[in-house]
This record gives sequence, C-alpha cells and structure tokens, in this order.
Amino acid sequence: MIYHLDTVGSTNDVARGAEYHDGDIVWADFQTAGRGQRGHSWESRAGENLTFSVVLEPHFLPVTEQFMLLEAVALALYDFFAELGVDTKIKWTNDIYVGDKKAVGILIEHSYSGGKLSRTIVGIGINVNQREFSADIPNPVSLALLTDRNYDREALLKQFEKCLSCRYSQLKNGEWGKLQTDYHSVLYRRDERHTYTLADGTRFEGIIRGVKPTGDLIVEWEDGKQRSYLFKEIEFVL
Ligand code: BTN
Repeated sequence: MIYHLDTVGSTNDVARGAEYHDGDIVWADFQTAGRGQRGHSWESRAGENLTFSVVLEPHFLPVTEQFMLLEAVALALYDFFAELGVDTKIKWTNDIYVGDKKAVGILIEHSYSGGKLSRTIVGIGINVNQREFSADIPNPVSLALLTDRNYDREALLKQFEKCLSCRYSQLKNGEWGKLQTDYHSVLYRRDERHTYTLADGTRFEGIIRGVKPTGDLIVEWEDGKQRSYLFKEIEFVL
C-alpha cells in the first residue's frame, strides 16, 4: 500500500515502523530531516518532488548478494525515466544521472537476521517539479527542468512502483546475471577516461571498467592495472 504523509523527519525512519510491511511505500510532501548518503542531508522543496521509502523484506537474499538489491532499485529508476522519455545513467553506486547532473538520490538501509536480510528500507528522492535549487547542491536536475513540464507526483509514484516490482521479481527469481549485465550497460562513465580522488587525497586519471558482483568499483589506472574500490574509498571528480 502507498501511505501519503504531510510532513515527517525522514521517510526512512517512518517506514521502519512495525505497521509497514513488505512492498509498502511511505511518501511525504516534506521532510524536515531528509538524509542523504555519506552523512549529507537531502534537500527537497515542500510539495514539489517525490521523497519516499519502500519497505522490503528480502529474506531470500543472502547478505553477500545485497548489492544485487541496490542494482534492482537503480535499474527500476532507470526504467522509470526511460518510460518518461529521459535517458539516464546509473552513477556508482546508485545515483541516477542525466548527463553530469543528478536527478535521483537513493539511501538504502538494511537490517539483518541470521546471515540474511530481514528488512530493507529503500529511501528515494526524485527531483520532479522543482526548478530552482540552492547553490550548495552541487549538480541537481529535475524532470521539470529536463522536459519543461510539471508532473502529477502520485501518478509518477504508482508508475515507479510498477517498475520496481518488475526488477524486484527478477531479483527474487535469481536473474542476477541479467541485473548485473543491465546495470553495467547503463553505468555512468564506463569505459571513459576521467579524474577520481581517493580517500587519502590521491588524484588520478582512470577508466571505470565495471562493478564486481559484490559492488566494488573496478577502475583501470594509466599503468593498465585494474584496482577495485569500496564505497567511500573513491570519489568522482565532476
Ligand atoms: C543521496 O543521494 O545522498 C541519497 C538521498 C536519499 C534521499 C531520500 S528522500 C526519501 C528518503 N528519506 C530520507 O531521509 N532520505 C531518502
């Protein structure tokens, strides 16, 4: 079921409540404490965008395969934008980009029980009708800016729910090879030379060659060697 709330702290926190179950979606018009990745906040103007959390109970998925869930979610967003006529790329690990601009942020939070995922909250912020963003958001874009029209947010949410259900079925059915291939095929900056920085400040030119099934990013250095990085170990220079 879809639950619509007015103002909350973070939909990810609300969706943790025991009253919500597998497949439920909690969306809010405004979050007073929206959270992003790497400890950042997520800013979104009241009533203009989609800020929501999907509750999943992926008991079937071993903890070691949890990156597949992230792939399924990112691909569902890719499919959703494609249906709207917007071509996107997935920026590792799970931002949705149009060109060099970010249209969607995803914050996935897992709980575990006995080596399996017990409950996962998939928090998603899609920039929909907002056309102006504060200067400290690095590179935002919205559907309205991309297509020069406004959208009915609830209709979009229902459309996304269908896209997610398709990709989640692939995950449940063990079609992991397909998810991995599709994720690779729309990976932002794959096979292109760009600049990256490492956590110790090292700056280098490299080429993304892919992502391991565990989620590590594989980057080829100028010496031809491929090295892999965990989230937080490497940053894109945009
Ligand atoms: C990021 O790109 O940094 C992730 C942003 C995730 C934002 C969404 S909005 C709905 C859900 N609730 C939150 O507090 N965060 C996520």
